[in-house]
Amino acid sequence: MDSNWNNKQASSSLARLLPLLSERYENKVEEAEWQGYLERLNRHFPRLFGLLHQLYGKEYDFFYHLAEILNTATKAWINRAAELKALDAIRENDPIWYQSNRMLGAVCYVDLYAGDLKELKEKIPYLKELGASYLHLMPIFRTPEGDSDGGYAVSSYREVNPELGTMDDLRDLAREMRNHGISLVLDFVFNHTADDHEWALKANAGEEEFQNYYRMFPDRKIPDEYEKTITPVFQDDHPGCFTYRSRIKKWVWTTFHNYQWDLNYENPVVFNRMADEMLFLANQGVEILRLDAVAFIWKKMGTSCENLPEAHIIIQAFNAVMKIVAPSFLFKSEAIVHPDEVNKYISEEECQLSYNPQMMALLWESLATKKTTLLQHALEKRFTIPQNCMWVNYVRSHDDIGWSFSNEDAEELQLNPEEHRRYLSQFYTGRYPGSFAKGLPFQEDPQTLQGRVSGTTASLAGLEQALVEKDEEKIELAIRRILLLHGVILTMGGIPLIYIGDGIGMLNDYDYENSPEKIGDTRWIHRPKFDWEKSKERSDPESLTGKIYNGLLKLLQLREKTQALSGSDTEFIDFGNEHLLAYFRHYESNSVFIIANFSNKGQNIAGNKLRQLGMSKTVTDVVAGKTIIAAQNLSIEPYQFMMLIGVR
Ligand code: GLC
Repeated sequence: MDSNWNNKQASSSLARLLPLLSERYENKVEEAEWQGYLERLNRHFPRLFGLLHQLYGKEYDFFYHLAEILNTATKAWINRAAELKALDAIRENDPIWYQSNRMLGAVCYVDLYAGDLKELKEKIPYLKELGASYLHLMPIFRTPEGDSDGGYAVSSYREVNPELGTMDDLRDLAREMRNHGISLVLDFVFNHTADDHEWALKANAGEEEFQNYYRMFPDRKIPDEYEKTITPVFQDDHPGCFTYRSRIKKWVWTTFHNYQWDLNYENPVVFNRMADEMLFLANQGVEILRLDAVAFIWKKMGTSCENLPEAHIIIQAFNAVMKIVAPSFLFKSEAIVHPDEVNKYISEEECQLSYNPQMMALLWESLATKKTTLLQHALEKRFTIPQNCMWVNYVRSHDDIGWSFSNEDAEELQLNPEEHRRYLSQFYTGRYPGSFAKGLPFQEDPQTLQGRVSGTTASLAGLEQALVEKDEEKIELAIRRILLLHGVILTMGGIPLIYIGDGIGMLNDYDYENSPEKIGDTRWIHRPKFDWEKSKERSDPESLTGKIYNGLLKLLQLREKTQALSGSDTEFIDFGNEHLLAYFRHYESNSVFIIANFSNKGQNIAGNKLRQLGMSKTVTDVVAGKTIIAAQNLSIEPYQFMMLIGVR
């Protein structure tokens, strides 16, 4: 779009809208504060205008929608607590606060970890012990009775699930965490609402206004057309992407479960109302929103209905709204799609943070194959993201592990992508001969055996099997694998995100099979209730828990001490050894060098190779606490993780 035209239109619209805003809100705040707000509005409005114009410019009442969104934004800013506005100001002066090596993410379910929000407040010391500065709470809002996709079917964005507490408890927790330097991260489940959300109930009662909030069709004609090009997500749950609702005799778009109704962002009212919900969350003290299922928010006939350009425009428009109201705010993208598509959501104007599903999947791939070739190949292609943006690197999440590497990458390494994925699923579900892993298949196609995998880090890394076999050597190898994976996510450019419970080596929990709400969904095996008793063993360094926990704690502390691990500058080094992953991290004038051995056999690096990389006479491996003479051959133990300092 012509930017001159855009800026002219934007400024004339703003000139018309400002008197309305001033009249309503100006006298509610101090003059200087109001001026500060107007300054941000003037700065970001042209971008917001351009984005909304692309989506809704053809609507006859576009100007009305624009007025509505600015009203929503300004009202939210007026209602924003002084302490949050103060945080905005601090972060505006330190816009890259989240790039520090002190950033460490943790994720948990409130009920499984602590019971409820009040209890969680009591657990803050444990989070501090890990050094967490970011805590993602899995969905905590009101959901339908029974199955709710682990909270991802939201009945109200403004009511906490009563079993977990109240909105007051949430604000209280957010404040307490903030005082301890921990940012609260929550999901913004904005692709769909639960079918008992107020809007859905009205739609289901026949109110056309609310039926237009969703995507509904009177017969199969259009759904059939769409389904020709869409890949179903939860095909075990329902085939295709639509659910029939007999009361209104309509087919409703349900990408995920049949009780999760996809919102219709073609309707500008939906954008506005969801912006209102988003700002409400921001005003409760949430500092980072995890944008759930970003890939699916726009649909277009004849396409896969994933990753469409309009999906990006919507997120950018939300981002612009946030920059006006709560400039300290960050978005984290949850795009579990082709790696090239994942990267497209990452920019300062869209999502500053993004899960790194490619790296997650390929870390597991490297453990299975004992080779880092595909991992390194993929990272070299796609690891670099725009400056000021950060990967969120993780070993596993609450979701399954999908083999989301690119087919082209695999083919370039002479691997058949389909076969390789099948092999990995077989390996991690313990069906491949010699596998150390104990996972369960998730959404596996019985014909092709293509599918994803569920399991906790410890069980997938071999601990569960080794404990059954009571094999000390295998237990030791499993511990090493757990620490190796964490070593990489803690040192690779980005923010590491740890699943609480993995730090004490929690195993799969097969209890979900006894719950009618959970039984169909194997992801529940890797969502065990945090074992506080077991966690006490962490103070005994000789115990199994102690070995895992203290190993992890050491890595966490090293990360915190190592400035070179700030930011995301990562330089991969190829030693020509397919079992090793090696990389420099640089930040300002600091550097650190990482070597990770993914093989169960020892490896060697010839002495001159380290010298060639510019390493001086001696360097220190701070993990083992050993001095290394750069000119001598370096031997690396099975699954050893090394962090060399003094390298440049
Ligand atoms: C995201 C969540 C997943 C959920 C889905 C639908 O992918 O991580 O758990 O099932 O969105 O909301």
